Amino acid sequence: MTENYVVDDNDLIKNCESILKSSLSSSSNTNKSVKDLSIRKQNARNRWKLLARAIQSESKHEQMMIKAHSIAPSINVIAQNFDGFDLVKIEQLRKDDRNNLIMKIDVACKRYECNVHLEKLWTVKDLIGFNNTGNITFWTSEAALCHYAMENLSMFDNSWVLELGGGMFCLCGLMIAKYGNSFAVHLTDGNQSSLQNVKKSVILNEFDCFMKASVLRWEDSVKQCPLERQKYNFILCADCLFFDDSRAALVDSICYFLSENGIALVIAPKRGKSMSLFIKKCISKGLHCQVHTYYNKEIWEKHQKFLKSNLYNEDMHYPILLKLSHLKTVK
Ligand SMILES: C[S@@+](CC[C@H](N)C(=O)[O-])C[C@H]1O[C@@H](n2cnc3c(N)ncnc32)[C@H](O)[C@@H]1O
Repeated sequence: MTENYVVDDNDLIKNCESILKSSLSSSSNTNKSVKDLSIRKQNARNRWKLLARAIQSESKHEQMMIKAHSIAPSINVIAQNFDGFDLVKIEQLRKDDRNNLIMKIDVACKRYECNVHLEKLWTVKDLIGFNNTGNITFWTSEAALCHYAMENLSMFDNSWVLELGGGMFCLCGLMIAKYGNSFAVHLTDGNQSSLQNVKKSVILNEFDCFMKASVLRWEDSVKQCPLERQKYNFILCADCLFFDDSRAALVDSICYFLSENGIALVIAPKRGKSMSLFIKKCISKGLHCQVHTYYNKEIWEKHQKFLKSNLYNEDMHYPILLKLSHLKTVK
């Protein structure tokens, strides 16, 4: 039996607080710094392994698809992707052209597809530069958000849509722009290489709405977008909750960009404390939050099946959908 449940704000606060308390009491400062050091060392080793593989690899695609957990930031949670959901089919747009692809999703017996550009060669600069998690793989959460959006397309009619941290494809924003009858769609990520890729993807498709693609770091939202305050009816954000250093800036950006009666669709696996900390921050900023574990039949049924597998870790792999709003009641 599947269920769609909404967690009350008070429950969430209690939940967040108990998680925080238990994490604080379980480690002394000394243990913590030793643990942090070993995590940092492990991450540094992972970066070098990734670099070595990139240099050895002959295929650009293989270089691109090297798993994201190799360069997860220095946090207790390893950002691990799980490909088993198989929610997006990828094909080359043309034979002999490995840089332009078609990404296809099937939702309720209907096919939705977008052309995307993919050109990524790893350089040392890439690996030590700004957050690269959106450049190295296409995350399951983004695919899950695409499914949810395509199944509920009419809600985007005439709307302003903003994608934050959309990575190298911003696929959900692209799909909504193509199929969703929106008025305007703004695709963003803080990483310059991701955005170059997104810009090239935009010109591979035809859209009826206004389109914009920008490098946008959450820390710079107000300064960079003075005319977009409370402009957006929908904000999309997939798998961006595990960055401890920029979680507060992400919440501030959502508060800043979201219109009075708008909804931010934020999706990510729980990943230890990261989702609770995000929700806690949202509530402290006056946002209301609904938590949806069941939002798509196909994804839920796959999740139920995967629970029997040792390779699957619900906490790390199952994308949970959050709906955030300024108002208490949202659609
Ligand atoms: C795990 S990736 C997810 C990418 C994409 N949404 C997906 O699911 O495939 C996280 C994304 O957040 C972006 N990001 C991280 N910190 C950021 C910040 N402070 N400002 C803007 N974007 C940021 C990264 O560049 C990256 O593309």
